[in-house]
Amino acid sequence: MTFTEELKATAQAMVAMGKGILAADESFDTANQRFQKLGIPQTVEMRRAYREMLFTTAGIEKFISGAILFDETIRQATQDGVLFTKVLQDAGIIPGIKLDAGAKPLAGFRHERITEGLDRLRDRIDEYYSLGARFAKWRAVIAIGKDIPSQCCIEANADALARYAALCQEGGLVPIIEPEVLMDGDHIIAESFEVHQRVLHAVFKRLYLYRIQLDQMILKPSMVIAGMDCPQQSSVEQVAQATVECLRNHVPASVPGCTFLSGGQSTELATAHLNAMNRLSKKQLPWMLTFSYGRALQQEAMKTWMGKATNVVAAQKAFSHRAQLNSAAALGEYNSTMEVITTASSPIPS
Ligand code: 13P
Repeated sequence: MTFTEELKATAQAMVAMGKGILAADESFDTANQRFQKLGIPQTVEMRRAYREMLFTTAGIEKFISGAILFDETIRQATQDGVLFTKVLQDAGIIPGIKLDAGAKPLAGFRHERITEGLDRLRDRIDEYYSLGARFAKWRAVIAIGKDIPSQCCIEANADALARYAALCQEGGLVPIIEPEVLMDGDHIIAESFEVHQRVLHAVFKRLYLYRIQLDQMILKPSMVIAGMDCPQQSSVEQVAQATVECLRNHVPASVPGCTFLSGGQSTELATAHLNAMNRLSKKQLPWMLTFSYGRALQQEAMKTWMGKATNVVAAQKAFSHRAQLNSAAALGEYNSTMEVITTASSPIPS
């Protein structure tokens, strides 16, 4: 059996007009760290309750096409016993799964990492497909610093991404290919541009080598942006221009879409950058540009929730509002006046 038509349709649906992806696939460590910072207990039940708050937000399917889950989450259910996968499917949201096992130190290369998780991947894909997942994610991490990234780090990660993607397409999951160039450091935007060029070049070379069907995948890139500690921060327009230029240089037209990660940007900036890209290049790009944010979609909602059932409604409102703003940005229709929630109803003219 081949999944060609199903994969194509899923990939298209993931980047449907005005919709993006919720990355809710934080590992135990990441989820716990975020809870700890806010004083939320780091338990299985709290992680479950938090994800229930997100997934049961009314109307979220207008802005969210798919949700990336973690292994623990794809097996969990609401308090009433409805599996999260069913909650999402019933709302028309496609469940996805994080398949990588995290980025580990790359032996022989200080400060560089290689993403693990290829062992037994075929079997894991079969299981996740049977649990309802229809797409997957694998994150490679590339750091910028003195003498890094090495070509070895780039090539090794590109190879793993391509091997993962091939297994996904064989097993019926649309692979999200996420080569994240980190914002950590004091590099200027030109360095970020150059590293993104090297990384995307290596990734697409490997995807070609491993016979990946480009119309049945999604690219999840980072934005071309100065390091967080760089004194020369670029304008929103500069980031948008550099990112689009870099993607145009490397991403073939048959890829249905690029869904950005937020990577530590503030929520407002992540939205403004996406909006500027869509506004600058309206109708001139062969692929959709949208979001697959984790922090930039969830931060406000998590801070509002704080682990308390009494805060669920307010947290859902914050989540829905952020998703709506990012949906507007995916259409190039966002502006900062929409940041204020004035009434319970939509701040965005329909
Ligand atoms: P952030 O948007 O918080 O960077 O997370 C996206 C993601 O999925 C990272 O792998």
